[in-house]
Amino acid sequence: MPKVTIDGQTIEVAEGTTILNAARQIGGELVPPAMCYYSTLKGSGGKCRTCLVRVTKGSEKDPRPMPKLVASCQTPVMDGMEVASKSDPSVVEARASVTEFLLINHPLDCPICDQAGECHLQDLAFEHGKAKTRYEFERRTFEKIDIGPYIKLHMTRCIMCFRCVFTAQQLCPERVHGIINRGDHAEISTFIEKSIDSEFSGNVIDVCPVGALTDRTFRFKSRVWFLNPMDAHRDCPTCSGKAVVWMYGGEIYRVTARKDKYGEVHDFICNTCRFEKKGKGDWTVEGPRDIDRHSVISQNHYEHGEKTVI
Ligand code: SF4
Ligand code: FES
Repeated sequence: MPKVTIDGQTIEVAEGTTILNAARQIGGELVPPAMCYYSTLKGSGGKCRTCLVRVTKGSEKDPRPMPKLVASCQTPVMDGMEVASKSDPSVVEARASVTEFLLINHPLDCPICDQAGECHLQDLAFEHGKAKTRYEFERRTFEKIDIGPYIKLHMTRCIMCFRCVFTAQQLCPERVHGIINRGDHAEISTFIEKSIDSEFSGNVIDVCPVGALTDRTFRFKSRVWFLNPMDAHRDCPTCSGKAVVWMYGGEIYRVTARKDKYGEVHDFICNTCRFEKKGKGDWTVEGPRDIDRHSVISQNHYEHGEKTVI
């Protein structure tokens, strides 16, 4: 098994593990941010460049450093490899530049965006970005599109991470969702506005790192930090029925899949559970969900202190 050292910490990982996943196994501040890679989506990664790292030693056999920064989500570790992540000023600078690029066209509408509080771009900008933008040209904008009865696409916020495309490809029986055009004309399309009518289409909302794809049954209902996330399950013939219900008082405001600390879903849920089961009697509430993702959404939650279930 190859051994890799990242920011001075050594770990042995399985053959073929990427630098990003090796870093995740170590954990902590050295884990590179990832806006397009998603562990449960085949083919994801390699699009956003937020996960750049410097390989200072290629391997035991060939110790030459790699000449350029590499995308850690796409680069497998070699035995004896040494990697600099947060410890390298050029990596920190490159991540700030990538963040600046991602924000070129992204609107600063966080105060009215449903994703605020659990937005990966907000976190990226806060942790790796710069305080000011140098961009002074007109930003690209799009009309909002309804993708079927449950999903709203607001392309203006899209960062072209391709996650939703991979989700649709992986979970829907036929391909109805993709990217058309190139460069800054590129846009998510449902091919002539055909709605994604798969029973699992709602998962594109969970994988979207920003507020480009939102839940039409929850839009503008509440800020996420006012809600109490609870682990809940139901007997569902289509999916595992294991979800998170977001409650205010006794009411369920929205239902999402369960995410890990990197904001990634391992068990996708069906549209019936997500959009149509909002009655408290529909779910067996297990208890408060411990959101361990490093973000606004995990701040000051009751599960870290005294437990008061409402
Ligand atoms: S809509 Fe969201 S998930 Fe899809 S490419 Fe854009 S940012 Fe990524
Ligand atoms: S997470 Fe690696 S390129 Fe996007």
